[in-house]
Amino acid sequence: MEREEALTTRDRLAPSARKGTAGATAPGGVLLEVTDVTAGYRREPVVRGISLQVEHGEAALVIGPNGAGKSTFVKAVTGELPLLGGSVHLRGVDVSRWPEERRTSAGIGYVPQVRDVFPGLTVQENLEMGGYRLARNELRDRIGGVVETFPTLKALLRRQAGQLSGGQRKLVGVARALVPQPELVILDEPTANLSPRIAGDVLDEAVSALCTQGRGVLLIEQRVAVALERASSVLVLVDGRPRHSGPAADLRGKVDLGALFFGRAAAEPAAGGATRP
Ligand SMILES: Nc1ncnc2c1ncn2[C@@H]1O[C@H](COP(=O)(O)OP(=O)(O)OP(=O)(O)O)[C@@H](O)[C@H]1O
Ligand SMILES: [Mg+2]
Repeated sequence: MEREEALTTRDRLAPSARKGTAGATAPGGVLLEVTDVTAGYRREPVVRGISLQVEHGEAALVIGPNGAGKSTFVKAVTGELPLLGGSVHLRGVDVSRWPEERRTSAGIGYVPQVRDVFPGLTVQENLEMGGYRLARNELRDRIGGVVETFPTLKALLRRQAGQLSGGQRKLVGVARALVPQPELVILDEPTANLSPRIAGDVLDEAVSALCTQGRGVLLIEQRVAVALERASSVLVLVDGRPRHSGPAADLRGKVDLGALFFGRAAAEPAAGGATRP
C-alpha cells in the first residue's frame, strides 16, 4: 500500500505529456465505431449485439457484473478474438477482419485485465517490447516520454516486472501500451487491486490526460461512480447483452448497480434510454 501511495502524488501526467504528442489527434469525430458485435470462444457467442462509439478526446465506459462479457467484448475490438458477427471500424476503416497486430499498428493500444506485463522481463524491457517496431532513437525518446509521464518508473527500470506491486505493475502495463502512441487506448479494469486513492488518480489523471491529448479511451471499470465522472458515454453489459447505453452524465450520482445490472424496478428510470441502435 505504501508503495502504491507513492504512485499517487508523482505519477500524474506531466504538463509536457498533456500538450499533445505525435500520434495524438484533434478532439472531435468518431475514432472507433463498433456495430452489432457478436464474439465468444470456439465460435460459441458470449456477447451479442454490442454497439458503441468512441470519439476522439473522449472516454467510453463499459460496466457490468462479473462474467458479463466485458473483457470478451474488448478482445473482439483488439482482434484477440475473431468477430462472430458485426463490425469494428477505426477512423472509418473497416478493421473487422484485421489480425490483432495490424490493429495495434493502426493505433489500438490495449492494457489487458490480466497478463498486462511480461513478468520475467525488467520494466525497461517491458517498455521496449511496447515499441519493438520503432527505430532505436525513437524508442529511447518514447520511453523517456512515458517515464516523464510516470516518474515512478524511473527507479523501477531495472526491476523485474513480476516482482512489482500491483499498482506498479499496472503502471508498467499502461506505460507499455502508451509507447507506440496509440490513438485509442483500451483499459480493461486498470484500477483492479489498487487502493481507492490511487484508483482515483489513475482514472482522473491518466484517462483525462489521454482524452486531453485527443486520444480516445475505451474503459472497463468496476469503480463505477468514479469512472462515470471521467467518461462521456456508458454501456452496461449484462449476460453478454447491452442493457443500457447512453451519455455517462445521465447515470452520474444515481447509479443503483443492483438495479442497473440485475433489473430491479428502481433501475428503470436510469436505464430508460434503452440501448443505442
Ligand atoms: N478463454 C475463455 N474460454 C471460454 N470461455 C471464456 C474464456 N474467457 C472467458 N470466458 C467466459 O466468458 C464469459 C464472460 O467472461 P469475461 O471475462 O468476458 O467477463 P467480464 O465481464 O470481463 O468479467 P469480470 O468482471 O470478472 O472481468 C464468462 O462466462 C467466462 O467464463
Ligand atoms: Mg473482465
